[in-house]
Amino acid sequence: MNTDTTAWIEDEIAELKASGLYNHIRVIESPMDAWVTINGRQLLNFCANNYLGLANDPRLRAAAQQAIDQYGIGPGAVRTIAGTMSLHIELEERLAEFKQAEACITFQSGFTANLATIPALVGRGDVIFSDELNHASIIDGSRLSRATIVRYAHGDVEDLQRKIEETTDYRRRLIITDGVFSMDGDIAPLDKICEVAEANGIMLMVDDAHGEGVLGKGGRGIVDHFGLHGRVDVEVGTMSKAFGAVGGMVAGKAIIVEWLQQRGRPFLFSSAMTVPDVAACIESVNILEKSADRVEKLWANADLFKKGMQEMGFDTGHTQTPIVPVMLGEAPLAQKFSQHLFDEGVFAMAIGYPTVPRGKARIRVMNSAAHSPADLELALTVFERVGQELGVI
Ligand SMILES: Cc1ncc(COP(=O)(O)O)c(C=O)c1O
Repeated sequence: MNTDTTAWIEDEIAELKASGLYNHIRVIESPMDAWVTINGRQLLNFCANNYLGLANDPRLRAAAQQAIDQYGIGPGAVRTIAGTMSLHIELEERLAEFKQAEACITFQSGFTANLATIPALVGRGDVIFSDELNHASIIDGSRLSRATIVRYAHGDVEDLQRKIEETTDYRRRLIITDGVFSMDGDIAPLDKICEVAEANGIMLMVDDAHGEGVLGKGGRGIVDHFGLHGRVDVEVGTMSKAFGAVGGMVAGKAIIVEWLQQRGRPFLFSSAMTVPDVAACIESVNILEKSADRVEKLWANADLFKKGMQEMGFDTGHTQTPIVPVMLGEAPLAQKFSQHLFDEGVFAMAIGYPTVPRGKARIRVMNSAAHSPADLELALTVFERVGQELGVI
C-alpha cells in the first residue's frame, strides 16, 4: 500500500521552484513603513499596500492602545451572537458618512467581504458578469455563490453589453468589477459600467480595495472619484491597505447592508474584527476627514516615480494609479530583478503566474505617502542600475 499520500505536493513544489514561480516569503522584523528591516538589513520598501503610511502612524497606535485598555483585544464571538461592540457600530457609521453611502457593514477582511456579499446577492439560476481580471476573492465568492459566471473582456464595456444581450436565461443578475486592478493599476470605467447596469436593470458591485484611501476626494474611493453616489449598489472595500490596519467593508444601500447582517456568512460564522483593528480604522477615518495631504503626497510620489521610470525606458504598463507595474515578461527574469534590487537595498517583489498571466511577470512597485523625495531618488537610481545590468533598459 502506498502510504506517502503527500508525495504529489513535493512534486508540485519542485515544479514551482523549477519554473521560478515559488513564493519566497520575506520576513519583516520592523514596523511596516517606508523602510523595513529584513534579515537585520534596512531596506527601502516598495511592496506594501501601505499607501498613506498609516500602518505605523502614532495616532493609530495610540487609538489601538486606548481601545485595548477599554475593550480588551478580541470580540470573542461572531457579530450576530455577542461580537458586535459599540466600536464596530461607530466604525460602520463613520465609514458610511465618510463615503456618503446609506450604510456600511464591516468584515474581517476585504477577502471575506467578497465571500459574504456575492453569495448573499446571487445564487443558483442567477448570473454574474465579471471582469476577466477581477481579484481572486471575487472569483472565489462568485464560485461559492453557484451562480453562472460570465466573464467579459477586461474593462470592455461593449463586451459587457454584448455578454448581457447573449445571456437570456437567468433569475437575478449582478455585474462585478475591481475598482483599481491590483496588478496593473488601471481603473475600471465604472461610470460607463454603471450606465450599462442601469440601462439593463442589473445590480452593480465594485471592489475598491486599492481605491479606498487613494481615489476620490481625500481618498473616499472610486464611487466618489466618478461622482456615482447612490448609483452603485455595493462598494466593497478594505481597511487592510491605505487604512493601515486589517478589515473589510461593504458600503451602499441600507437594504443590502441589512441583508448582509442576515445572510453574509462570514458575518454570521466568523468572529468580528478585533478591537485594535477597529479603533485604528476609526482613527484612519478621522485623519482622512481632516486632511487630504497624505492622499496628495501619495499621488505626487507616484507621478514622480512613474515619470522617472518611463524616462529611463522601463515599460510601466497602463497604470493610472500609484501601483506601478514594471513589465519584464518571464517569471525567472522578474525574480532575478527583484533579487538584484534586494541586494542593492530596495524591496520590490516579483509577481508571476498565477497572480498575473504567464509571460506577463513584473515587479510591482507600490508607492506610498511614507516615501521621502530622497527615498524615491534612491529607488530610481537602483532600478536604473539593475535594469542596465539585466539588459532591460
Ligand atoms: C481587489 C481586492 N479585493 C480584495 C482584497 C483582499 O483584501 P484583504 O487583504 O482586506 O483581505 C484585495 C487584496 O489584495 C484586493 O486587491
